[in-house]
Formats: sequence, C-alpha cells, structure tokens
Amino acid sequence: MEKLIVKLGSKSYPISIASGLLNSKNIYSPLKSGEYTMIVTNKDIHHLYAKIIKSTLIQMGVKVDEIILPNGEQYKTLDVVNIIFTALLRKNHPRSTTLIALGGGVIGDLTGFAASCYKRGVRFIQIPTSLLSQIDSSIGGKTALNHPLGKNMIGTFYQPISVIIDLNSLKTLPSRQFFSGIAEIIKYGIILDYNFFCWIEKNINYILHCDEKIITYCIRHCCELKAKIIAKDEKETNGERILLNLGHTFGHAIETELGYGFWLHGEAVSAGIVMAAKTAELIGLLNFNDTERIVNLFKKAHLPTKGPAKMHAKDYLAHMIRDKKTEKNKFNLVLPSSIGKAGFYTDINKKIVLQAINQCLL
Ligand code: GLY
Repeated sequence: MEKLIVKLGSKSYPISIASGLLNSKNIYSPLKSGEYTMIVTNKDIHHLYAKIIKSTLIQMGVKVDEIILPNGEQYKTLDVVNIIFTALLRKNHPRSTTLIALGGGVIGDLTGFAASCYKRGVRFIQIPTSLLSQIDSSIGGKTALNHPLGKNMIGTFYQPISVIIDLNSLKTLPSRQFFSGIAEIIKYGIILDYNFFCWIEKNINYILHCDEKIITYCIRHCCELKAKIIAKDEKETNGERILLNLGHTFGHAIETELGYGFWLHGEAVSAGIVMAAKTAELIGLLNFNDTERIVNLFKKAHLPTKGPAKMHAKDYLAHMIRDKKTEKNKFNLVLPSSIGKAGFYTDINKKIVLQAINQCLL
C-alpha cells in the first residue's frame, strides 16, 4: 500500500492508495468501537462497495447508517445537503459521528459540506471512487455546492481525517468518467511539472487502458503534487493553490450554462484549459507549440478541446464575471506560461478573452 500524508499540523491526514483496501480494518483506524458513522453514497456506487465497508466497520464494533442519494452534478445542492442533515438528525447522530463519503466528486463535496456544518462540524472520511476524485477533489478539503447562478459557489474549507483510494473502483468506472479524470491529471503536468507532462504524453495509451502499474504511479504522483500544494496553501490565500484552477473559470461557465451534469467536470476543464492556453498565447505568454502539445494531449485522451456547439463567446462572460477569482468586474485568470509553469494574471483584457474563446468554438 502507498501512503502519503497531507501535512497540515493538527489537521494532517493520510492518503492510502492500493487495490482492495475496503475490507481492511486498519484503514479505518481513526474509528473506534461504539462510534457512529453515516455512509453517504449514491445509488450507482452503493451496490458496489457499501456492503463491504459496512461489514468491515460492523466487525470493528462501529455503528453504521447509510444514506443513498441520487447520482449527478445537478444534485450537488443545499436541498440534498438538507436530506443528509435530516437523516443524521432522525438517527440522532452525535457530534462524535463520522460521515463517510463513498463516491465521486459530487458525493465528496456534498458530504464534506454536510460534515463541516452538522452540529458545527463532525469528522469525515473520503473514499473516492472516480479517477477525478481520487487525484483531485477528495484531497484538500474544498467542499462545494452548486447554485443555479454558478458552480461551486457555496462551500467551505474542511479537511477529511483520511482519504482511502481503492484502485479497484476504477474497474467499474464508465469510460467517459475515466477520461474526464484524465483532464485533471494533464492539468497537474501543465501547471507544475514539465517532466510529468512528458511522461503522460509517452504513456497516454497505457493510462487510457488503465494499466495497473501506470495508473498507480499516475494517481500517487498527482496525490503527491496536490498534498504538497495543500500543505503550503490550505485555503487558497498565497497564490499556490489557485493554480489548480487552471481552465476552471471557462469550464465552470460551460457547466453552469449547459445545466449541471451535461458536460462532465473534466470535459469542461479540458476545453477550459485550451481556452486559457489560447488566452496566454494571445497575450504573448505561451508559445504556439506548447498550446499545440496541450491540445493534442487532450485530444488523445478523448477530451473536448472546443466549447459546446450551442455556446457563444459572450455566453461565457456572464458566468466568468461571477467566478470566485473575479474582483471588481476584472478578468483574473490562471494561465500557463510554459508547460510545467502557470501563474495568476489579473485584469486580462475582455477582448482578448473573447478572442481566445472564439478560437475554441465549434
Ligand atoms: N480542485 C482544486 C482545489 O482543490 O483547489
């Protein structure tokens, strides 16, 4: 088993990575006999993994409840969080309870948010089952809900006590979801690690086929990169963590405009990163060859490099102006300056942004 630590002083926690972890009692070690837990999952994941987790916890003497939510980005709402609160209150879960997020990014974000608020905060464990949540959203304590006016607009920073990554869950992941996760893997290469980007280019076919050795290295490396960033900038205040938002300002505009769930997050991020690369190219920050390498790698990963057909450039701007990085109506964006290096650039000219989007329309 691979074990990493997200180093955050008294809030530090382990990330455990291996195949077939879910029936190992040690992995749940922060939990003790007699304690309460609530597994929060969705109907597609529940029948695959909830039974094994429940029986392991019951053998440890831990009390287990579960709540099964509908599946999809459109359910990442306050109403659904309230369903979790109602279930917890009906079963009289105490402040010492632990929520267990079993699922992809939506379940992780909902559960983390609920954990950060229920009785002013209870513990939670992340068991991410999608590639995207394993390499990104389960780590670092960003919890989020969507609002009709903007994706992830409501949320808290609230760290889990443990992240448990069972690689077997990738075997049951639909391919579209798997490819969506690859977008965030490529993102790490672009913002932080030129050699990793080259490694992805070389190994993309093995990644697409989920080759065990390759995907294990890939997940571990992404988790390491993310853990390092979180340790330096837990709450996105000193310019490090913000880099992880490359492409997200454009991507969130796509997700919000189309309606949550039509494009997967990684798909929107892929097209969004290409728009960010084009913006960087137009202001003379990134060279054309680097943009082409980025576009080609997304294409090889079966990811979109253009926005959805029914969106015009101006449709993006209304959403982008509400982005969390926007202040005083100025376009502030994470942009790559070369492969392996990105920065946060403020007050980007609106005409340039429009021009970049226009170059990425179908
Ligand atoms: N997914 C971006 C972050 O965790 O900061």
